[in-house]
Amino acid sequence: MDKLATAAFATNLKALSRDELFEWVHRNEGSSKHLLIIYSLVLGLQAKVIIDIGLGLTTRVLRTAAKETGGVVYSFDFDRRRFGHLLAQQDAQWHLTLAPTSSSLPTAPTFIDFAVHDGAHDYGNVKRDLEILLPRMRQFGIICVHDTQQPDLHGDMLAAIADATRNFKVSITNLPFGCGLAIIRIEEGLSPPITPAAGTLADGRRDTLPVVFETGPQKIIHVPLYRRWLVPIKIKLGHILRQAGLRR
Ligand SMILES: C[S@@+](CC[C@H](N)C(=O)[O-])C[C@H]1O[C@@H](n2cnc3c(N)ncnc32)[C@H](O)[C@@H]1O
Repeated sequence: MDKLATAAFATNLKALSRDELFEWVHRNEGSSKHLLIIYSLVLGLQAKVIIDIGLGLTTRVLRTAAKETGGVVYSFDFDRRRFGHLLAQQDAQWHLTLAPTSSSLPTAPTFIDFAVHDGAHDYGNVKRDLEILLPRMRQFGIICVHDTQQPDLHGDMLAAIADATRNFKVSITNLPFGCGLAIIRIEEGLSPPITPAAGTLADGRRDTLPVVFETGPQKIIHVPLYRRWLVPIKIKLGHILRQAGLRR
């Protein structure tokens, strides 16, 4: 990140305009290629309780998205010297706590829909931060963790994620660009599930029904025989008939 941009962050962590958001996405630094993803995740989860660890551009994106969902962003950073002046800029949709996450994160609200972790990058702190967040997450809520593919940091980051999530049902992927972004989806939470954004099917039902998905050899998802064999034949036949002009 250039010096000008860094200086701008220290004074301004306000929501971005759409043009600014797209402008950042086309840069090739840090988490710029994650910004639209983070923005969409907030909208898709209709996130109301949003945790932001590590102030910066991600804070601005989360604040931008929270305006759309009516959510509140709870930001945490321990750098009082750099960010102290921002305390005066808090509003109904942005709460800022300037203290180490070891003491401040336990005061975060429960029923968290979405969290972005880009604070400490050592095994111990990341593992502890995740252990604080995980029991507070809503089912199907998401935690994003930055720097999981960063050449010097990925070892600690991935080990912290693996160890912190060991006793939780989660599914995880790691975006292989922009220093990496782990996307941890809470498959089973203690809190009620999120209410995702959704459209409507022709029969009036919502088009999205989040269901638990566990990978691994121990988990066999049963697909009835007719869906395995008959449905593909039906689809193929329908296609042939449509191509022949015998069906619309
Ligand atoms: C990589 S920067 C965050 C960048 C930001 N997410 C962005 O998109 O520009 C990491 C931040 O985490 C903060 N931090 C590091 N360790 C922390 C801890 N244990 N508790 C709270 N904040 C911490 C640092 O002060 C720093 O501002």
